[in-house]
Amino acid sequence: MDDLERWRDEFPILSRSVYMINNSLGAMPRQTARNLAAYADAWATRGVRAWEDRWWEMPAEVGNRIARIIGAASGSVSMHENVTTAHLVALSCLRPSDIRRRIVCTAMDFPSMVYLFRGQEANGFELRVVPAEDDLTIRTDRMLDTIDQTTAVVAFSHVLFRTSYIMDAAAIVARAHEVGAAVILDTYQSAGIIPVHVADLGVDFAVGGCLKWLCGGPGNAFLYTRPDLVKTMRPALTGWVSHPNPFAFDVDETALRDDALHMMNGTPAIPAYYAALAGLDIINEVGVDRIRAKSKALTARLLARIDECGFTSAASRDPERLAGTVAVSVPDAALVARTLKAREFIVDYRPPVGVRISPHFYNTIDEVDAIMAEIESIVATKDYDAGGHRSLVT
Ligand SMILES: Cc1ncc(COP(=O)(O)O)c(C=O)c1O
Repeated sequence: MDDLERWRDEFPILSRSVYMINNSLGAMPRQTARNLAAYADAWATRGVRAWEDRWWEMPAEVGNRIARIIGAASGSVSMHENVTTAHLVALSCLRPSDIRRRIVCTAMDFPSMVYLFRGQEANGFELRVVPAEDDLTIRTDRMLDTIDQTTAVVAFSHVLFRTSYIMDAAAIVARAHEVGAAVILDTYQSAGIIPVHVADLGVDFAVGGCLKWLCGGPGNAFLYTRPDLVKTMRPALTGWVSHPNPFAFDVDETALRDDALHMMNGTPAIPAYYAALAGLDIINEVGVDRIRAKSKALTARLLARIDECGFTSAASRDPERLAGTVAVSVPDAALVARTLKAREFIVDYRPPVGVRISPHFYNTIDEVDAIMAEIESIVATKDYDAGGHRSLVT
């Protein structure tokens, strides 16, 4: 048993399932149930006074825990409902001009972002989507060639959600800044599973969420804003929570807070923050370097077993370019994924890469071997789950 397996008891689902879907929804820490009970108790017993006790400043409290994980200064992370809205807050600080109005993103970014960026064309932006290669990665040189003096913002995923490919963020940020463009880095698939240091990277904004590798559940997206920029930012998507004296209720007030809450807008999602606390504490305590070392061992084993079984994978064979997920391509991959889930091997299916397997620090090499044996058996027998309930969710 390695050191990190001691944490397994803290995650109830691990005793009943082989839980390998941490790039989608991280396992719930046991402590989260107690924290949610504390939320209910505060509401029940303190009522509206809970805002004064803790709730009003809670976005900053949670944001500071996230800041430690992504290499950001305290007071530089604001909280938002999801990554799409966090992006929109950042974009709403930028004003397209006749000569500089392009948003550069990639075809492998999460589609919600591309939809949002395209939506910004109505506000005067113009979208350039850097195409993917046959192996579903994005070539750095193609990205660099697309960024020029007409680029207002470069917005891209640090780690691509289908293949878990790690982009060369430093080179892209350098090019963007060389031409005077802003950068929004989407760390949703990197924060908590590979080392991320947004301050060292020098990005203007970074977004992400607690749902996946941070084991914090939904409703907890975050926005990092470079501390030296924040005071100059005037987000068009704004609201009373960003004000230093919100309870003055002054419609003429234009002053914004000095810290990251400058980037907030309406009433924060307090129950989601209670849900996020335990996962963030655990990730901070375990440390992302140790998580990365364990993750590399688990993904290496997955790839070795995939080769032995004669399956293929879109995952990079360069461990320095592969983050936490290995997708395996098998015949009838959607059915295989559904059958695995019915048998308590929790994965998902994403076209065209197949079954995504994403172990976290609490998973074991034995679990990797067990899931690969199960996949081998399902593929050989085609004994697919006939399950009655059908959902849009895969
Ligand atoms: C890289 C990346 N960005 C964004 C999202 C989701 O964004 P949102 O929080 O707006 O649903 C995902 C979800 O899987 C993702 O992998």
